[in-house]
Amino acid sequence: MTAPQSPRDDIAEVVLSAEEIAETVDALAARLTEDVGCLQPIMVGVLTGAFVFLADLVRRLDFPLEVDFVEASSYGESTVGGEVVIRIDLTRDVEGRHVVLVDDILDTGRTLSALRSTLRKRGARSVRTCCLLDKPDRREVDFEADYVGAKIPDVFVVGYGLDYAHGHRNLPFIGVLRTELYQSTQA
Ligand code: IMP
Ligand code: MG
Repeated sequence: MTAPQSPRDDIAEVVLSAEEIAETVDALAARLTEDVGCLQPIMVGVLTGAFVFLADLVRRLDFPLEVDFVEASSYGESTVGGEVVIRIDLTRDVEGRHVVLVDDILDTGRTLSALRSTLRKRGARSVRTCCLLDKPDRREVDFEADYVGAKIPDVFVVGYGLDYAHGHRNLPFIGVLRTELYQSTQA
């Protein structure tokens, strides 16, 4: 019987090791503690990519908070004007609440920008945005997150919740996929 293939075999280069991720999440947690530690925020993870990051982040936050999730898609030009298609909605009413939107990576900016508008329209008292990674070169809308773990160049990364074709989310580090893996399916 052949050994099952590891998702590690598909990685060309490590962008953030598990140790570097831990240090980055520590630093973000310290800033959030300072800013929202007295506000009983709702920490909203953007599914699916943020599930690992949010789980690690909230375990470093030693103050009262709630956790919720949202799954949203931005469909190109349809998101201009702040609209986003919400496929799984929050379970909480955000009216009057302080919210921190947590995503794995900030790319075009459409998803977080539109979600922030939606939650503001619903009456959230404040909406902060936090992402582990940011690819500023890819931005298509005028948006910056309030908390950014690390900026990276325009490369496609996987691991620590981030996927390619639904795989590789379980890697404990973040790496760049070997190009032939996505070139072969992007014909
Ligand atoms: P955007 O900022 O609206 O373009 O969307 C950000 C979303 O795109 C993230 O939540 C990820 O789900 C996905 N995404 C963007 N870049 C990457 C990447 O390099 N690897 C995996 N997912 C990515
Ligand atoms: Mg996502």
